[in-house]
Amino acid sequence: MQIIKEPHKLTAIIKSYKKRGKTIGFVPTMGALHNGHVSLIKKARKENNIVVLSIFVNPTQFGPKEDYKKYPRNFSRDSAIAKKTGVDIIFAPEVKDIYKSGFSTYIEETNLSHILEGAIRPDHFRGVTTVVLKLFNTVQPDISYFGQKDYQQAVIIKKMVKDLNLDTEIKVLPTVREKDSLAQSSRNIYLNKEERKSAIVLYSSLIYAKELIENGLTDAEEIKKRMRETITKERLAKIDYIEIREPETLQPVKKITREVVILLAVKFGKVRLIDNVIMN
Ligand code: PAJ
Repeated sequence: MQIIKEPHKLTAIIKSYKKRGKTIGFVPTMGALHNGHVSLIKKARKENNIVVLSIFVNPTQFGPKEDYKKYPRNFSRDSAIAKKTGVDIIFAPEVKDIYKSGFSTYIEETNLSHILEGAIRPDHFRGVTTVVLKLFNTVQPDISYFGQKDYQQAVIIKKMVKDLNLDTEIKVLPTVREKDSLAQSSRNIYLNKEERKSAIVLYSSLIYAKELIENGLTDAEEIKKRMRETITKERLAKIDYIEIREPETLQPVKKITREVVILLAVKFGKVRLIDNVIMN
C-alpha cells in the first residue's frame, strides 16, 4: 500500500495506471475509519483494479462552531485498517496543498444545499462539493463510493456529477449499523453512556414510520407527528428535524404514494446525529 501526500504525485501515479488500462475505485473519507467506511472500501476492492482511499479532514465543510479542530484523527489506526481491507493507495494531503494560499474558487450546488442539513449548516455542502470535485480531479476515478448514511450529501454529489458532466460513476451503499441499530459514525464516540443508549431511538423511530406506511398510513404530517412523539419520550433527545421527502429532489411530500426518503437529525447533548431510510 502506498501513502501519497502530494496531489501532483498521485495524479502522475494514476495516469500511469490508466495508461495500462487499470480501473480506479475511489472512497473519499475524513478518516476515523469504521465499518461504514470499510464496507465502501470492500465494494471498491471488488469492482476495480486500483483502490484509492482519501483521508482529509476538510476545513471548508465545518462551520465556525463545529468540531474541525477536535475531529478524531488517527492516521496509524486508519492506515492499518486500509491496508487490511485492500486499499492500494491512501491519499492524505495537507490542508495547504488542497487550499493553496489565496484559494478563492468554490463549487456550489444551488438547489439542494441549503435545505435540511444545509439549513442548519449554511456553508457545509459548498465545502463538500468543492473538496470532492478537487479530489475527483486528482484521483480521476472510474467509480466513486459514498454512504447512504449521509443521504443528502450523496444526492448533491450525484447532482454535481450530472450538472458538470463529470466522468465518474457514483455508487451509494447502504448504511452500516452497530448491533443495536445506531448508524456507525465517527461522531458516536462523543456520546456519553446515557446518550449512546438514547440514540437508538433514531433508527427505531424510522422503523416505526416504515411500519406505519406499510400498514397504509399515507399522511406525512401524521407520520412525522408520531415519530416526534416516539423521539421526545427520550429525555435526552432534541429533534432538529424529521422530514419525509422525494428521494432525488428532496422536496417535501404530503401524501405518500411513491418512494420517499425519511430523514432526521437529533441532538443528544452536544452530539448531533443524522439517519434516514428509503421507503419504496
Ligand atoms: P466521512 O464522514 O468520513 O464519510 C466518508 C464516507 O463514508 C461518506 O460517503 C459517508 O456517507 C460514508 N459513511 C459514513 N458512515 C457510514 C455508515 N454508517 N455506513 C455506510 N457509509 C457510511 O462524508 C465525508 O466523510 C465527507 O463529507 C467527504 C465526502 C469525505 C468530503 O470531505
